[in-house]
Amino acid sequence: MTRGRFITFEGGEGAGKSTQVLRLVARLESAGHEVVKTREPGGSPGAESIRDLVLRGAADRWSPVTETLLMYAARRDHIERVIRPALSRGAWVVCDRFADSTRAYQGAAGGTAPGLIAALETFVLEDIKPDLTLVFDLPVDIGLARAHARAGAEMRFESKGAAFHERLREGFRAIAEAEPERCALIDASGGMDEVEGEVWRAVSDRLTIHG
Ligand SMILES: Nc1ncnc2c1ncn2[C@@H]1O[C@H](COP(=O)(O)OP(=O)(O)OP(=O)(O)O)[C@@H](O)[C@H]1O
Ligand SMILES: [Mg+2]
Repeated sequence: MTRGRFITFEGGEGAGKSTQVLRLVARLESAGHEVVKTREPGGSPGAESIRDLVLRGAADRWSPVTETLLMYAARRDHIERVIRPALSRGAWVVCDRFADSTRAYQGAAGGTAPGLIAALETFVLEDIKPDLTLVFDLPVDIGLARAHARAGAEMRFESKGAAFHERLREGFRAIAEAEPERCALIDASGGMDEVEGEVWRAVSDRLTIHG
């Protein structure tokens, strides 16, 4: 059995990631692939419990370093229980946020030392690396307006200031620029169908789809 493919969606608040994850999963399933749709923080029962700690409450509830460690505790559980087993049996894994969100939120925007994040990537991710990462890029004000329109309890990062979200956007753009083989920068400012087309082009250009 060949290893499955691992696709991650990344980008700031309200960029349209979760909307497009659903559409991509539907397309891959129609092409005959077994697809596991999952998300971070979370994706396994233990990691979902950590998600509640990280995404709820006051903006300053955790320091950036503490947040980094919580994210990596959650990520390790998610990898052990969901991602690695799925890839091993040949399924495609489509994940709404992954390790680049830690680089951008806790690193570029939050100020956690890049060396700590790099060390966690080495020892916690081991060989788990996305085959393709779709980096959704959108002006900060548009993303926050979209996110506010669908407000819920998970508002901790949305409640951080505009400067935080500008650093976040730059952080994601820098990741896409530094790793062009893994990452495709997606212009997320268009309508949902337009963005869906852009995502599908990136996936079908870079990965081999059945059928
Ligand atoms: N291309 C689009 N144009 C306009 N509105 C959109 C578009 N894509 C998604 N939306 C809407 O914007 C809101 C945020 O979208 P979505 O939840 O998919 O973003 P997200 O990137 O997953 O956000 P978060 O990072 O906060 O999880 C939703 O209400 C969604 O319906
Ligand atoms: Mg989402």
